[in-house]
Amino acid sequence: MRIAMIGTGYVGLVSGACFSEFGTEVVCVDRDANKIERLNDGQIPIFEPGLEDLVARNESAGRLSFTTDMKAAVQGCDAVFIAVGTPSRRGDGHADLTYVYDAAREIAAAADPETVVVTKSTVPVGTGREVEQILQETAPDKRLQVASNPEFLREGSAIGDFMRPDRVIIGAETQRAQTVLRALYRPLYLIETPIIFTSLETSELTKYAANAFLATKITFINEIADLCEAVGADVHDVARGMGLDGRIGRKFLHAGPGYGGSCFPKDTLALTRTAQQAGSPTRIVETVVDVNDRRKSAMADKIIAHMGGDVAGKTVALLGVTFKPNTDDMRESPSLAVVPALQQAGARVRAHDPEGMQAAQELLSDVTWCQEPYEAMQGADALVILTEWNQFRNLNLSRIKETLNAPTVVDLRNIYDPTEMWEQGFHYTCIGRAF
Ligand code: UGA
Repeated sequence: MRIAMIGTGYVGLVSGACFSEFGTEVVCVDRDANKIERLNDGQIPIFEPGLEDLVARNESAGRLSFTTDMKAAVQGCDAVFIAVGTPSRRGDGHADLTYVYDAAREIAAAADPETVVVTKSTVPVGTGREVEQILQETAPDKRLQVASNPEFLREGSAIGDFMRPDRVIIGAETQRAQTVLRALYRPLYLIETPIIFTSLETSELTKYAANAFLATKITFINEIADLCEAVGADVHDVARGMGLDGRIGRKFLHAGPGYGGSCFPKDTLALTRTAQQAGSPTRIVETVVDVNDRRKSAMADKIIAHMGGDVAGKTVALLGVTFKPNTDDMRESPSLAVVPALQQAGARVRAHDPEGMQAAQELLSDVTWCQEPYEAMQGADALVILTEWNQFRNLNLSRIKETLNAPTVVDLRNIYDPTEMWEQGFHYTCIGRAF
């Protein structure tokens, strides 16, 4: 089998590398010549554990290559995957599909007859049908086939998620499209992964529904955490007690500063817009979007309150700026709301993140960037943990106390034990356990 992957962003690069690991010949295409040049040099533009080795191994085995030449890449392919970006359109929150449609036109012009064109990017319901029409109009005689195959990868554990997924969803309505995709995912049949064939619309909606449900679950436990603080309950135990009910499940019940990233914020918003347009609004998801947005800035208020209500002239040591650990991704990270709000209240911010500082420097101004956690704490009046990197889970408590001006800690990821922190003399607060 041979496939082309259009777009070497997060999804395209991980999926392309993983398909090549399955033994398929994969050509990854991107318009950005600089990026392709770097990929050909073995430089991976994103931080994803295991990706560099996976790319190197498959490149040297001759199964994975990178090019800017879309025309040459799509020729001789059984399937061409579209994995280009679908950013939120400014103003209305709809997904911007320009890149998807441009790619579909270019593919149609260059591909062999009967090639299966698969949307891997997260696209609103109806996009597959639109792509089908573009293929038909651009190359009426080629009998190009359309399919939808959304990805369910998490940043930081994307390779494992691809190689051992809970399920694969394939929107494919023709025999040829089904056969090609089944063959591409053959290695997963061996590990008995459920592979579900649906219509285009069902596949597209499944992706949005899954992400919106997970975002809802997080937002639900975040609100319960606030309630725990108000009534003197412990959200860890509430989440555990709820999650042990098999119908609820324990995952994604970890209270925090609000979800971020390139997926949940964009996809929840796009789903509400699609639903409104279809005359079938998703009110729960609308509320989730709103509650989560407010939560991120409310975290700055929480920090300020814990620091005595006034941070003017004070210094905050911030650990973690990425939206979650094991990524350098800053998109929609709670830090983007928290840092400016603290600065506006007059605080100085010293910060450290294991992988995110380079990207963060372009988005956050007037921050003193530090090479390690204790350097960030020097001369600071409080320590704030915003991302639960492993490096922050086992800090030396005595050293924190010696380094900070005052032993004030705000743990927005609940990685420390409140009782231990109080016993050690810290003025400590976290999420939903402050009783
Ligand atoms: C998410 C989904 O988990 C993937 O299944 C999906 O494929 C992906 O979006 C996508 O659509 O491409 P990702 O954004 O990489 O993956 O990260 P998650 O691990 O899901 O975390 C998202 C956010 O929720 C983070 O800000 C995280 O801190 C937060 N979160 C997650 C919580 O606050 N509590 C939790 O219990 C879980």
